This record gives sequence, structure tokens and C-alpha cells, in this order.
Amino acid sequence: MERFMKNFFLFLAKSKILTRAAKAYGLRLGASRFVAGETLEEAALAVKELNDRGLAVTIDYLGEFVDSEAEASERTKRLIDVLEMIGKEKLTAHVSVKLTSLGMNLSESLVLGNMRRILEAAEAHSVFVTIDMEDFAHCQKTLEIFRMLKQEYDHVGTVLQAYLYRSLDDASALKALCARLRLVKGAYKESPEVAFPEKKDVDENFKKLIKACLLNGNFTAVATHDEKIIAYTKQLVKEHNIARDQIEFQMLYGIRPERQLELAREGYTMRVYVPFGTDWYGYFMRRLAERPANAAFVLKSLFK
Ligand code: FDA
Repeated sequence: MERFMKNFFLFLAKSKILTRAAKAYGLRLGASRFVAGETLEEAALAVKELNDRGLAVTIDYLGEFVDSEAEASERTKRLIDVLEMIGKEKLTAHVSVKLTSLGMNLSESLVLGNMRRILEAAEAHSVFVTIDMEDFAHCQKTLEIFRMLKQEYDHVGTVLQAYLYRSLDDASALKALCARLRLVKGAYKESPEVAFPEKKDVDENFKKLIKACLLNGNFTAVATHDEKIIAYTKQLVKEHNIARDQIEFQMLYGIRPERQLELAREGYTMRVYVPFGTDWYGYFMRRLAERPANAAFVLKSLFK
């Protein structure tokens, strides 16, 4: 049943019709638990509150799969607004971006141009930018674009997904670039040809990735809510005397907020991924897929 629900929500996440309907409906259906608001002002308030509690942040202006150059350019402008807001309000925040929302499916030169505009603005406000990893179909291209940008800019990093067979090789190929990597389990529906189908194998590969990246000496962000993975990471840090400025934990907005505070109190940098914007539908469906029990929130809000 759990697997059926997971696949069901991942299938819904890809529906363009439902994405449009959700935009029109507004941030209801329980999504506000995982999304900080629809406007930049609402996001800024949420970030300030987290910063005041000792939590760092990475802001995600929600959106995927644009259909035109004009739309990709508009999204680039909005992201630059986010960067300016971080600078103006002196927030402790990075930014996370999805290359499909900046025109990756339309042309390489378009997405590179948009990313350069974002990275120039980020540099002006001393903000680090992480390129999120999307589905497997975009993985190779995302890494190629990341490599090109990393040769020009220092303040850019990306994500590796533990469910992919290729990720350990990618980690060692990226070692020489001294890339700042975020490690995650992976949130998309992938075929067993490219990704471990069993959770226990994903968890084992996650541990191998964390170890490889930390012992490579690269900055590593371990992005998970999984207590066993957190404990494993802390043990590695202790055993290998890894400096606290080489590692951070990351979690999603609205998930395990108490644990986020505890890790910050223990002296770890704890970065919360804060999504905002009207395009929240696909993100929200992936969160339900991770934990179908959360679907109860959706039903409750429908009846409210
Ligand atoms: P797992 O799903 O095994 O969950 C472990 C435990 O955490 C659960 O038992 C439960 O207690 C709690 N939990 C997990 N999800 C929950 C939820 N939705 N609601 C309530 N409790 C929940 N993925 C990707 O493919 N590309 C990316 O770029 C990113 N970026 C990213 C950034 C950050 C900061 C985070 C934390 C995650 C991502 N992800 C991602 C998502 C990631 O791939 C993964 O889907 C989720 O983090 C869930 O996996 P966990 O490691 O938390 O473990």
C-alpha cells in the first residue's frame, strides 16, 4: 500500500493540469505546512523567524519546467529579487535553483546565461547557490552545466542522490573540483535500471556517499530527516575528526522542526530548505510521496 501511495503521489507530481489548478486554488490542501508562503514577503518573514532561532536557510523559489524563453527569463528575474532581498534584509540564507525552471529543456545557452545572471547577483550579495538535482533524465546535463559554472564561480554547488547507481562515481569525479555537495536520498520516481528500488540499498549507498565525500575533504551537506543517517554522520565526524565547518545538516521546512533546533544547539550548522511561491504543487506531491501518512493533512484541510 505504502509503495502504491508513493507512486501515486509521484505520478500526480508530474501533472501539468493539476499544477495549473493548484496555482489557481492557492496555498491550501495542507501545503502551507511545507511551503513558507506564496510571496517573497511571506518567505522573508519565515526565514527571519528561522534565523532568529539559530537556523540557517536555503530559499527555493518554487517552479519547474518552463515552456518559453520569456518564462525562464522571468523566473531568473524573480530569483535575483530573492538574492536582493537576502542582501537587504541581511538574512543568513543560501538559494537553491532548479535548472529546468531556468530553461534547461529549451537550450543550454539559455540556462547558462540565466545561471550566470543569478550567480553574478549572488556574488554581489555573498550568497551561495545550490543547483538542485531533478529526475534522472536531467542528471547528466545538470552535472555538465554545474561543471562549466564551477570553473567560473566559486559560490555554486550541486546535489547527488543516493538512490542513483551512478552517484558514487559522480562524487569521485567531482572531487577535484572541490565542489560543495548536498547529499540526499532522491525524491523522483526512477526505474530500477538507474536507481536502487529498495530503501535499504538506498540507505546503504547514502552512507557510502557521505563517507566518500567527507573523507575526500570536500564540504558536505547531509540533507535528511532520517535519524539513522544523522547518527551515522555524527559518528563519522567524531571518528575522523572532521571539522565542523566541513559539514552541515539540512532538512526541509516543516519537517522535524524540533530536531532541527536540537542539531543547531549541538553546534552543527542546520540549514532549512525553505520553498515559497505559487508553483508549490509538484514539491508538495513529492513530500506526500515520501510520507503518505501526511495525506491525512490534505484530507483534514479539505473538510475544514
Ligand atoms: P526518509 O524518507 O527515509 O525519511 C526518514 C524519516 O524522516 C521518516 O521516517 C520520517 O520520520 C521523516 N520524514 C521524511 N519525510 C517526511 C515528510 N515528508 N513528512 C514528515 N516526515 C518525514 N531530492 C532530490 O531528488 N533532489 C534535491 O535536490 C533534493 N534537495 C533536498 C534538499 C534538502 C535540504 C532535503 C532535506 C531534501 C532534499 N531532497 C532532494 C529530498 C530527498 O531526496 C528525500 O526525498 C527527502 O529528504 C526524504 O528522505 P529522508 O532522507 O528524509 O529519509
